Amino acid sequence: MRPATGSGFSAAERAAVYRAIGSRRDVRADFIGDTVPDDVLERVLAAANLAPSVGLSQPWRFIVVRDLASRRRVRAAFEAANASAAAAYTGEELERYARLTLQGILEAPVNICVVCDDDPQRGHGLGRQTMPETARYSTVCAIQNLWLAARVEGLGVGWVSIIDPRELRAIFAIPERLTIVAYLCVGYVRGFADEPDLLRAGWETVLPLSEVVDHERYTER
Ligand SMILES: Cc1cc2nc3c(=O)[nH]c(=O)nc-3n(C[C@H](O)[C@H](O)[C@H](O)COP(=O)(O)O)c2cc1C
Repeated sequence: MRPATGSGFSAAERAAVYRAIGSRRDVRADFIGDTVPDDVLERVLAAANLAPSVGLSQPWRFIVVRDLASRRRVRAAFEAANASAAAAYTGEELERYARLTLQGILEAPVNICVVCDDDPQRGHGLGRQTMPETARYSTVCAIQNLWLAARVEGLGVGWVSIIDPRELRAIFAIPERLTIVAYLCVGYVRGFADEPDLLRAGWETVLPLSEVVDHERYTER
């Protein structure tokens, strides 16, 4: 690796960052159920809180859920949503869908519900007059920070979007003015797969870089 002059990162440190990015996985199985120590969880949440945000608004909130009764309610909401989602598929696709593990709500000892204030006082509206949705984008940046920090701590993170957000709102007393952005299952795992589960399951392929980068103008493919 060529030196990045003035970056302040050694070649080994840079390689570690790229390795963390490349080996991050969405994990829904293989949780080993060990408790996540508070200091580890705090480091991961602190990484999330360092994410870029429109106007420096930090519009995110992380609701850390360890309570089993709450997680059981979320799991029931997942089961209901997943039954409806499965109804959109037929034949071989349905069979493949049914084989996928799509959540680890009870298997992971920690769940995190991530919510966003779409109209935060903080940041004084900077950047949101033209693109109000940037508050949500900022929150997604925070989730990615969390995901990467978790990876280097040996914690798997699984993002579950197959839940009616109204159910989460009721379970966690989330006010209407906040948008529910993510529900994450977090815990130590046996290991991290080399490839996305959906690739291994034959559900979807991975696009190469050449398919997602255009030069100078948009190119229809
Ligand atoms: C916004 C978002 C929502 C997702 N929702 C789900 C989900 O409900 N269930 C699931 O199994 N995976 C979910 N995933 C994980 C993706 O399937 C996964 O990121 C993708 O297949 C690539 O795999 P990788 O993250 O291991 O690289 C979600 C990911 C994102 C970014």
